[in-house]
Amino acid sequence: MTEIRSEIRFMLNGVETALSDVRADETLLDYLRLRRALRGTKEGCAEGDCGACTVLVGRLTPDGLIYESVNACIRFLGSVNGCHVVTVEHLKGQDGGLHPVQQAMVDFHGSQCGFCTPGFVMSLYALWMRRTDPTEADIEKALQGNLCRCTGYQPIVKAARAISSYGRVETDVLASERARVEATLNALKDGARVEIGQDGQRLVIPASVEDLAAVLEAEPEATIVAGSTDVGLWVTKFMREITPVVFIAHLDELHTVTETDGAVSVGACVSYTEAFSALSRRIPAFGPLIDRIGGEQVRNMGTIGGNIANGSPIGDTPPPLIALGATVTLRKGESRRTIALEDFFIDYGKQDRRPGEFVERIDVPVPGEGTHYAVYKLTKRRDEDITAALGAFHLTLAADGTVAAVRIAYGGMAATPKRATAVEAALAGKPWSSETVEAALDAYGKDFAPISDMRASADYRMLAARNLLRRFHLETTSGLPVQVSRYEAA
Ligand SMILES: Cc1cc2nc3c(=O)[nH]c(=O)nc-3n(C[C@H](O)[C@H](O)[C@H](O)COP(=O)(O)OP(=O)(O)OC[C@H]3O[C@@H](n4cnc5c(N)ncnc54)[C@H](O)[C@@H]3O)c2cc1C
Ligand code: FES
Ligand code: FES
Repeated sequence: MTEIRSEIRFMLNGVETALSDVRADETLLDYLRLRRALRGTKEGCAEGDCGACTVLVGRLTPDGLIYESVNACIRFLGSVNGCHVVTVEHLKGQDGGLHPVQQAMVDFHGSQCGFCTPGFVMSLYALWMRRTDPTEADIEKALQGNLCRCTGYQPIVKAARAISSYGRVETDVLASERARVEATLNALKDGARVEIGQDGQRLVIPASVEDLAAVLEAEPEATIVAGSTDVGLWVTKFMREITPVVFIAHLDELHTVTETDGAVSVGACVSYTEAFSALSRRIPAFGPLIDRIGGEQVRNMGTIGGNIANGSPIGDTPPPLIALGATVTLRKGESRRTIALEDFFIDYGKQDRRPGEFVERIDVPVPGEGTHYAVYKLTKRRDEDITAALGAFHLTLAADGTVAAVRIAYGGMAATPKRATAVEAALAGKPWSSETVEAALDAYGKDFAPISDMRASADYRMLAARNLLRRFHLETTSGLPVQVSRYEAA
């Protein structure tokens, strides 16, 4: 019998905190600003774009305590149970004055009107803890999710490069209290389920994945919340009722990445940041793609399972996973079923997920030696932008240069992520030549009838989708690089 407690417990800056009055849809930002008067953390967009609300969240992992930058505006308070929340108010230097990151920002004139500055400071602090001598590319990547309306990023980048001349990370505030925080967070892991509130405002934090299965069987209509980078916006932008809520991002069992010779198995709650290393090493085209999902804060929070379960036609991971022949495993109670990922997406807003089921893992076959695989994401601006159209191509050529196998999938071209089966059929068995590719372009009309929206017109989408096949052909036959990431190139 799982023990149940009716309060969340976490550390806020230096203080252990317990709360029993937590609304299921209460954001961490509202809690910090309205209930704790910690107003250094700002509200800009309230949708995860601007980074003004950036705080650090420390959590225990099998590799020890790690701190990640997150957007407090779309993170729910309930989800910090068992974590260490660090706001800008906690930063201080060795002498009690400004922290090295803050002093560098002052000296290099990185702060103008000052509104976005605490968010920048927290993102740079997270970077500095990982890398004390960051390259400009590291800094740009760490700041993708921080927008300064006063502009003038160059002083901020210069400040970022100088932080280590103002102090040592080994003697920094979070380093000096590390042992105490680890001990506290370990003690908070009491194996209990958390249940707070009732009826219109109820939240559940399962004790384990077994417990999650039991909770969802009992409350199949509950809203599952993983990284909340989608669900957070349902609350802050659309004022939707989401209760009862079941938080799952803390479940260690759903954070595993397992590698075998031919596949990578990714737990549903593996974040983009956690997935990056294994996926980009085994399937290099994934590295540049993940780098272009949201900003650092969104990548620290958003999960691969959430990107699939939300069923969005413009989610970035489904098309490349479908092109690889990935499968998704769904669990309800003790029973599991594994289906081809492409079959999970039935129609707009409709997925093959039965009441009480949750996504447990995704199995991704690694492309074999000699196969060609590429992913192209088209957006209006390069960083932190949502896909207008995305094409993923997976090709195996026979010894005589004909197409032995091909899988092509697109996002942004239909009501769901979708395979281009007519185009595939037009290519199969034919020589991999520009003539074959040009002849196959007509088949796009059978596969897709895209819509026009604020991201792109239907005509643009159709033209771009066809041109991506041309590009893939050119790159696979000319030896040009398939895709070069700015970050890799630097
Ligand atoms: C600023 C910003 C930028 C973004 N940029 C991109 C981008 O470039 N590309 C992109 O693809 N997406 C982007 N997103 C969207 C979002 O980050 C992704 O869709 C993300 O992967 C969702 O995962 P999550 O864990 O945050 O899901 P949540 O918000 O927690 O949940 C999303 C949906 O999935 C369900 N769900 C979550 N986990 C499970 C599970 N294990 N089983 C069953 N159901 C589950 C939830 O109930 C909900 O319906 C962006 C979001 C923001 C805020
Ligand atoms: S307030 Fe803009 S990202 Fe949170
Ligand atoms: S300093 Fe003014 S918004 Fe960045």
